[in-house]
Amino acid sequence: IAPPLLDRHGRTISYLRISVTDRCDLRCRYCMAEEMTFLPKSALLGLEEIALIADRFIARGVRKIRLTGGEPLVRRDVGDLVRRIGRHVGAGLDELTMTTNGNRLADHAGALFDAGIRRINVSLDSRDPDTFRHITRHGDVVRVLGGIAAAKAAGLAVKINMVALKGLNEAEIAPMLKWCIAEGHDLTLIETMPLGSIGEDRADRFLPLTAVMDDLSARFALVRDAHRSGGPARYWRVTGSETRLGLISPLTANFCETCNRVRLTTDGMLYTCLGHDDRVDLKAALRGGDLDAALDRALASKPARHDFDIAAAAPAVARHMSVTGG
Ligand code: GTP
Ligand code: 5AD
Ligand code: SF4
Repeated sequence: IAPPLLDRHGRTISYLRISVTDRCDLRCRYCMAEEMTFLPKSALLGLEEIALIADRFIARGVRKIRLTGGEPLVRRDVGDLVRRIGRHVGAGLDELTMTTNGNRLADHAGALFDAGIRRINVSLDSRDPDTFRHITRHGDVVRVLGGIAAAKAAGLAVKINMVALKGLNEAEIAPMLKWCIAEGHDLTLIETMPLGSIGEDRADRFLPLTAVMDDLSARFALVRDAHRSGGPARYWRVTGSETRLGLISPLTANFCETCNRVRLTTDGMLYTCLGHDDRVDLKAALRGGDLDAALDRALASKPARHDFDIAAAAPAVARHMSVTGG
């Protein structure tokens, strides 16, 4: 039996995030610059290669896999990949899931459910058409809301991801929670993280979730909920509803001590921390080396924690979130 993936800080890796493309059909201001260069198609892992790597992780104890991007639904063969990895759901894998911008969700929701996905996270930073267009540069909120409705109709539980941005969507956080309660969605608020240059200073938009919670606690009956989704969020329940409020606060409440995650990029690199450049080339290992030895090497180099500093002059790491999928 294959040994579990244990790092040198005593953390066990049970959650693999797979970025299936670094491309995206939106350009959220906190995530990307207006002009981005993307990996050449020739550098990408093929579908079966991604699946073989996923198989190996599952054999080594990974119980949860999330497909991310960029935007995962812009990759043409993503449906085949979901079906291929979906075979493990209930047999080795507790959960296969996805984080999407929702733009193409209406076309895919039914197939995702059929392949074994039961829950998805959808980025929705604003429900106001103008604010949504401003933040995403290209987005149409009506289209994304249609995708969310289609997902719900297909039987998928939806969690809304909202990056809290000072002066942009700040005033919409409480209304978003109210809407999520009415629609039966969970809501996770996220602090903006310094990854890659975006042509503006993220500090100007940084909103600490500590301040957001002071405001929300005055408006909603919130009780701490011990629920864990396997990700970094801490949860509260809105009394009298099914809705959970999650907080992802890398800047104001570090969660690295309990990190259980690693990230595979679309060109086959395994990043061991979102906030560092440490990585191991799994593509080379898969194509001509020893995949298990490469995984062990990666785990041995996983950093203890990120050093994000929102006030620093330059982002902690040069790559954008869209490369490693969050
Ligand atoms: P659940 O399964 O619902 O808990 O999802 P998740 O929070 O694991 O995944 P999602 O893709 O929705 O990510 C939400 C946010 O959490 C994104 O902004 C990610 O970048 C961020 N995130 C996930 N893992 C980490 C991590 O290890 N460190 C940091 N700093 N942020 C993370
Ligand atoms: N900081 C925090 N969250 C980010 N996301 C993208 N870029 C950043 C960033 N710099 C979010 C997206 C999506 C999730 C995967 O990560 O909004 O919901
Ligand atoms: Fe695309 Fe997501 Fe980045 Fe927005 S946050 S540009 S939807 S990858």
